[in-house]
Amino acid sequence: MATKAEDEQQSQAGTGRHQEVGHKSLLQSDALYQYILETSVYPREPEPMKELREITAKHPWNLMTTSADEGQFLSMLLKLINAKNTMEIGVYTGYSLLATALALPDDGKILAMDINRENYELGLPVIQKVGVAHKIDFKEGPAMPVLDGLVQDEKNHGSFDFIFVDADKDNYINYHERLVKLVKVGGLIGYDNTLWNGSVVAPPDAPLRKYVRYYRDFVLELNKALAADPRIEICMLPVGDGITLCRRIK
Ligand SMILES: C[S@@+](CC[C@H](N)C(=O)[O-])C[C@H]1O[C@@H](n2cnc3c(N)ncnc32)[C@H](O)[C@@H]1O
Repeated sequence: MATKAEDEQQSQAGTGRHQEVGHKSLLQSDALYQYILETSVYPREPEPMKELREITAKHPWNLMTTSADEGQFLSMLLKLINAKNTMEIGVYTGYSLLATALALPDDGKILAMDINRENYELGLPVIQKVGVAHKIDFKEGPAMPVLDGLVQDEKNHGSFDFIFVDADKDNYINYHERLVKLVKVGGLIGYDNTLWNGSVVAPPDAPLRKYVRYYRDFVLELNKALAADPRIEICMLPVGDGITLCRRIK
């Protein structure tokens, strides 16, 4: 484990960044993040989630995965609110999906959506092996038409206990208008990546990777809109890449 001085030196030199899969930590040092993983996340990570994390690590887009600490957080949260009917937008190989499926009761449900089925199928054998696949209704394709379909039928209004959004950042604000109708009063929506690599506070001329720069304005817009929305209470947490929890109050 690196010392604080080594970390500072590495961070000034722009080298030695944490290599952990899914790592997007905004913590002051990588050593601190590693400490969290080693003391309280990995020792308690369910075996199938570890297996899925290791499968994902070999995939070229592994940066997209939900990190292990965020998976643990979601699992705790779902149990605390006794979630049963849930939704996930943005599945990738299924790490957060498996965290959810394991946390729900046996008759719990997850409506899971992703434009890419192939990546979901990488993790699916692990989900099947652990006996939680029956909770998942996977829909391949863009989430928006599915949400529009759900909103059209009044009986779906207020029917979800928890919704996790981890997909196309340029659509979060549009998803929000639909999701706020679909989540129950007292239920939660979690928007992932709301600190977007820390870029939300980067100066306009900061050297940002192209995709980070592109989505940054949408994330900034979303954060403002959520803070001003009287239908929800919010709490922005620096877990993973930032997650904003929205509790519907009316
Ligand atoms: C950051 S990854 C999701 C990570 C996932 N939660 C996990 O635990 O690994 C984002 C996912 O959103 C999906 N996506 C992008 N645009 C989408 C859309 N319009 N509708 C549904 N899924 C979309 C991508 O295919 C990608 O798999």
